[in-house]
Amino acid sequence: MISVKDNVFRLDTENTTYIFRRTKFEHLEHIYYGTLLDTMESADVLAQKQTIPIGSSVNYTESHQLYSLDNMCLEWSDNGRGDYRLSPTELKMPDGTFVSDFVYASHNIQDGCITMNTLPSAYGGDQTLVIKLKDTSCSITLDMYYTVFEKTDVITRRVVLRNESEKPLLIRRMMSMMVDLPDENFSLYTLDGGWIKEAHLHKRPVEYGITVNSSTTGDSSNRHNPGFILAESDAGQEAGHVYGFNLVYSGNHYSAVEKSGLDIVRVSLGINPHCFEWNLAQGESFESPEAVMTYSQHGFNGMSHNMHSFVNQHIVRGNWKDKERPVLLNNWEATFFNFNESKLLHLAKNAKKLGIELFVLDDGWFGERNSDKAGLGDYSVNSKKFPHGMKSFADKIRMLGLDFGLWFEPEMVNQDSELYRKHPEYAVQHPDKKPVLGRNQLVLDLCKSQVRDYIVKNVSSILDEANVSYVKWDMNRHIAEGYSSSLENQGEFYHRYIMGLCDVLTRIFGPRPHILLESCSSGGNRFDLGMLCFSPQVWCSDDTDPVERLKIQTGLSMLYPPSTMGAHVSESPHQQTLRETPLATRFHAACFGCLGYELDLKYLSPEGKKDIENQIAFYKKYRRVFQYGTFSRMKVSKDNKVIWQSVSEDKNTAVTGFFQTLSAAAESGDKLIVTGLSQGRYTIRTRPQRLYIERFGGLIKHIMPIELNPEGILLRTANRHYSMTDCIEKYKCSAKALCSGIPLCSQFSGTGYNKKVRMLGDFGSNIYITEKIDMEEKNNDYQY
Ligand code: GLA
Repeated sequence: MISVKDNVFRLDTENTTYIFRRTKFEHLEHIYYGTLLDTMESADVLAQKQTIPIGSSVNYTESHQLYSLDNMCLEWSDNGRGDYRLSPTELKMPDGTFVSDFVYASHNIQDGCITMNTLPSAYGGDQTLVIKLKDTSCSITLDMYYTVFEKTDVITRRVVLRNESEKPLLIRRMMSMMVDLPDENFSLYTLDGGWIKEAHLHKRPVEYGITVNSSTTGDSSNRHNPGFILAESDAGQEAGHVYGFNLVYSGNHYSAVEKSGLDIVRVSLGINPHCFEWNLAQGESFESPEAVMTYSQHGFNGMSHNMHSFVNQHIVRGNWKDKERPVLLNNWEATFFNFNESKLLHLAKNAKKLGIELFVLDDGWFGERNSDKAGLGDYSVNSKKFPHGMKSFADKIRMLGLDFGLWFEPEMVNQDSELYRKHPEYAVQHPDKKPVLGRNQLVLDLCKSQVRDYIVKNVSSILDEANVSYVKWDMNRHIAEGYSSSLENQGEFYHRYIMGLCDVLTRIFGPRPHILLESCSSGGNRFDLGMLCFSPQVWCSDDTDPVERLKIQTGLSMLYPPSTMGAHVSESPHQQTLRETPLATRFHAACFGCLGYELDLKYLSPEGKKDIENQIAFYKKYRRVFQYGTFSRMKVSKDNKVIWQSVSEDKNTAVTGFFQTLSAAAESGDKLIVTGLSQGRYTIRTRPQRLYIERFGGLIKHIMPIELNPEGILLRTANRHYSMTDCIEKYKCSAKALCSGIPLCSQFSGTGYNKKVRMLGDFGSNIYITEKIDMEEKNNDYQY
């Protein structure tokens, strides 16, 4: 709810309150952001007190020694009025100076959200407050938008700058929001990395000066995700003050956290000013992307739960909103470029037998695309691989009972392609310099309408012809030369590229709402809220090693729900890390997301096939809990454990993933803690999983009455056709007991094996299912 009284603006969500007010000189002073307050609370009491002048301050007016903008908590701040902290803007004003001073002019409150003209934004908000600020001497206005999403405890902010003066206005920096928060000994948490190591969570204390989290690659990047977190230094998963921030934008982003000498922490976020410059002529406006903020006093999980609900309910849209996602098989790691129709059909047949629902044909189906050196930009179906065309192949896949999905990389072109030979001017490249290449390709210039039309026409026609129901939209290189011959001002390139991308996506997928879109950018270069407005799920990383995925998905889970994370089971030893991991662990990490398989099924042993069939049946049964349940990162006391939990919406079922990274000798006992369930009694069971006898190697003599050569053919054959069942635990207890934890059976410790020993070793894992007792009686059809 938004209320305004005595110059005080108050924005309440279900559990938070945000307050700011107009000062006597009509600046906006930030007062409070935190736990929901009583309606009676006075802004005067909550505001930072400034009762003595501070030396070396520049005062806004001579007559008011206590009014220095540099010392205040503000909602917005300008250059040249005595605030030396980072301003959210850098504007060359129509008068030729860099001095601006935006002060309150008027406000209004409207129901719902106000849609943006140039970018996607969140929808379904409760109310929006629009405050108009006016520069004190130039005819420039700044509209600040605040939208409250009450149930998810989120407030979004954005601004629109408008030039009413006859002379031009030049924007060099334009953030979406800023806010000043009194320091609580904050730490800053960011999601950083690179290819195959995306979104690793990093913590650093907020120190004096400015810390920047940004991207310059033309996308939101795998280097630094646009989302970040500020938390009091001793905040934990369940308790402590935690603020989350994010941006609904897929381009170059920038956020700055600056601690001043007075221990006020300024947070600002928006478009990266790097290589950015925008001209506004009279009557023109500029919209910033929408920024998202949330607060929870219930630690990191509390903050994440807000962000997860917000993404599921107010960012992801269309037919796939809140809908369970299909289990898919993607042929990429099974075949790379080396496939033909019969090889793929064989793979698809095997996939269908195991319970897969969607077959995805990845890179290599078009033009002369037999390696990553040629073909991007062309859309003719490769007739050697598909002699009867794509429709015929797609129909065959559907005849098998699978849906059909297709990979595209529409924003790119290889120099060795029909498109480039015909239209070299479609590619982004400096007119006088040799182009720089990434993965042998150039970026298509989405600032140009003819390029956008080419993409829309060609992608749409294949989608319709082959009746495609899923698209993987890839983007496999960063943009380097931000240049378009269509632009007068090259400072507009990067932002216009993103506006062009949104135009293309809207035109292709708007009329085809049945298509499930999965965004990918060499893995996670585009894991952001901007893309999630179009694609309900995103490929987290090309790295599917489950041990690496524990880091990647844990990091992403800070701000994004499991329903958005594409997660696949692939081969072991792993493609990128050479790590060997049990099939069960690969599945356990992947099932806390949108499950897929990406391996050659024909090489699976009969036991492996049965295993995967059981995995898929299990996942389908609990899919809603895995994708849409309340996901939490559980507190762990040992550093070789990662524990994830998802609780069903009705709070009667939980699934817990218990992962061990490296085993420790003579491990002490472990506990299973399950939180967030409704009161009552529960059964707890281990998901049955196969224990492959090859895992025992030379130790086989411990478990078998006969002696076998651990390297010999007998054991290898036995391993393909025979497996044991790993330790299964079953308990009954109350939700209260589960909150404090159920001690689990011992781990293998070199002193022998029995059925009550958990055989985790390195990279072992278990899933525990906790179900309310009356529910389980109705629902006990699942058998191993
Ligand atoms: C990227 C993607 C992969 C795969 C290849 C195909 O690397 O991240 O999943 O689609 O492209 O070239």
